[in-house]
Amino acid sequence: MAVKAEMNPVRGIRTFPAFPLVLGVVGKDEKNIITLSLVHVFSFNPPLIGVGISPSRHSHELFHRSPDFSINIPPKELVEESIFCGEKSGKDMDKFEETGLTAVPGKKIGTPIIEECLVNLECRKTQVFDTGDHTWFLGEVVCAQATENYDRERALIYWAGEFRTVGEVIRGR
Ligand SMILES: Cc1cc2nc3c(=O)[nH]c(=O)nc-3n(C[C@H](O)[C@H](O)[C@H](O)COP(=O)(O)O)c2cc1C
Repeated sequence: MAVKAEMNPVRGIRTFPAFPLVLGVVGKDEKNIITLSLVHVFSFNPPLIGVGISPSRHSHELFHRSPDFSINIPPKELVEESIFCGEKSGKDMDKFEETGLTAVPGKKIGTPIIEECLVNLECRKTQVFDTGDHTWFLGEVVCAQATENYDRERALIYWAGEFRTVGEVIRGR
């Protein structure tokens, strides 16, 4: 057994291999894009996903106000646009205009989806709860679409300051 060093609990959390990197869109007339890695599946039936958003984000208020949101998986080629949407605030600019990403009307929700993303999940907000320094917004996926022959190796994962793609398959199940 390797020798293990005890560490600060916050550093401990940073040892997770990675989380998916997604672009959240929220709002209809006042729409915004926020880059998110705190994203999780909360239920398969019904299909519920949740995103953790800090109250310091402009999007936090928009997520509270909007009845829905979309979760969009960008291809790795959009890493710079994803960083832009994760460093700039929508309170100062329209991130769709600044990045050139295209807002397309949702099929089932008022919030748009992002045309250039590989996957678009339209979510109707179902629950909101605060946990420490983030608020979790859960939504039921009411419409899902993906590019033909969707390949998860084109998606991005992120954690501890590193943008990656998924690695080798060790074994099937
Ligand atoms: C890779 C990456 C992942 C991020 N993940 C989250 C997250 O899960 N939750 C969050 O509140 N902020 C996250 N952020 C920070 C927000 O995206 C960032 O503060 C953004 O500028 C907020 O935009 P807004 O003010 O328009 O809402 C992340 C940023 C990056 C670059």
